[in-house]
Amino acid sequence: MDYNLIATTTFGIEVITAKELKALGYEDLKVEDGKVSFTGDEMDIAITNIWLRTADRILIKMASFKAESFEDLFQGTLAVNWGDIIPENGNMHVTGKSIKSKLFSVPDCQSIVKKAIVQAMKKKYNKEWFSEDGPEYKIEVAILKDIVTLTIDTTGAGLHKRGYRKNSGGAPLKETLAAALVLISNWNPSKQLADVCCGSGTIAIEAAMIGKNMAPGVNRSFVAETWPSADKEMWEQVREGARKGVNKEQFRILASDIDSWVLRTGKDNAEKAGVSDYIAFQKLPMNEFSSKKKGGVIISNPPYGERMGEAEVVEEISKEFGQLYSNLDDWSVFVITPFKDFQKVFGKKADKNRKLYNGRIQCYYYQYL
Ligand SMILES: C[S@@+](CC[C@H](N)C(=O)[O-])C[C@H]1O[C@@H](n2cnc3c(N)ncnc32)[C@H](O)[C@@H]1O
Repeated sequence: MDYNLIATTTFGIEVITAKELKALGYEDLKVEDGKVSFTGDEMDIAITNIWLRTADRILIKMASFKAESFEDLFQGTLAVNWGDIIPENGNMHVTGKSIKSKLFSVPDCQSIVKKAIVQAMKKKYNKEWFSEDGPEYKIEVAILKDIVTLTIDTTGAGLHKRGYRKNSGGAPLKETLAAALVLISNWNPSKQLADVCCGSGTIAIEAAMIGKNMAPGVNRSFVAETWPSADKEMWEQVREGARKGVNKEQFRILASDIDSWVLRTGKDNAEKAGVSDYIAFQKLPMNEFSSKKKGGVIISNPPYGERMGEAEVVEEISKEFGQLYSNLDDWSVFVITPFKDFQKVFGKKADKNRKLYNGRIQCYYYQYL
């Protein structure tokens, strides 16, 4: 069965997710704010959940229609063949959001959608009552400018939950965003990579997984696998294929920080991710970083300066990035920070810069090539 699928993403990295999808062989992609749409069957649901590094989740789009009244919403939802996916005992949980629409009461929309789905299920299964004690089906009603989109989540815990991060420093990057930063930099294992403010090592770990062609979701499970319709053998095949795809590339990413505790955390996380052989963690203030190698890449997420007294630290560190850039022969520097005066303090306008969100914090990804 073919589905309309949506890979949801953080704002600002949709095109990176689209590039990943293209590399996996998907065509006819539609890129919109926070999502990339494509089509595929159950195997594609497995492949994209297991392989995509920068997407947040994979949704099945069930319907999209205009609704300006609760009646429109009810009828539009009722017309969908929910029973094609949801079994008799499916545990249906409806979430919602509404932006710039006549139907703005999200709790009301959620309960109307639930009512309409149950009504559709009554017709399909010819029964009046559903126990809902089976596997989970998370349905979302998203309304944007009166256009309703109904989806079912196939992922479960968000795709950033790779399973390797048990601990982190104070302000860790989301794994999906860290992977996006590495992909945007076009780093490959032939170049020396360094994160000079590595914290719990998310950038280095995601880069190592990219360098080794390790699928980020290979060691975790997804909610669609728990559905009775799931082809368990096929999911295992996709995982097996991913495990075989790991390459023999040898490289060493440098990850340094001044905090011993976060460095230990980073080492533990790298161990769990299976990439500890490819990352050298080191206690080192960034202004002491040096390398004789040419053409390397620094990707870093320095402190944000949100805590008291950190503002000067942020300024000092931004200056140090500028110094590293001028001291290192032919290196590129990539820094994600919400610091508005970064370029001024760095001492040079970035060659490229991209607005990104780390959680709710608006940041810029400054790129000195
Ligand atoms: C925002 S955190 C990095 C988080 C990291 N990306 C992660 O995912 O865990 C910033 C890090 O910079 C480190 N740091 C602060 N000043 C530094 C300096 N002068 N040299 C090296 N590291 C520094 C802090 O110890 C902290 O771990």
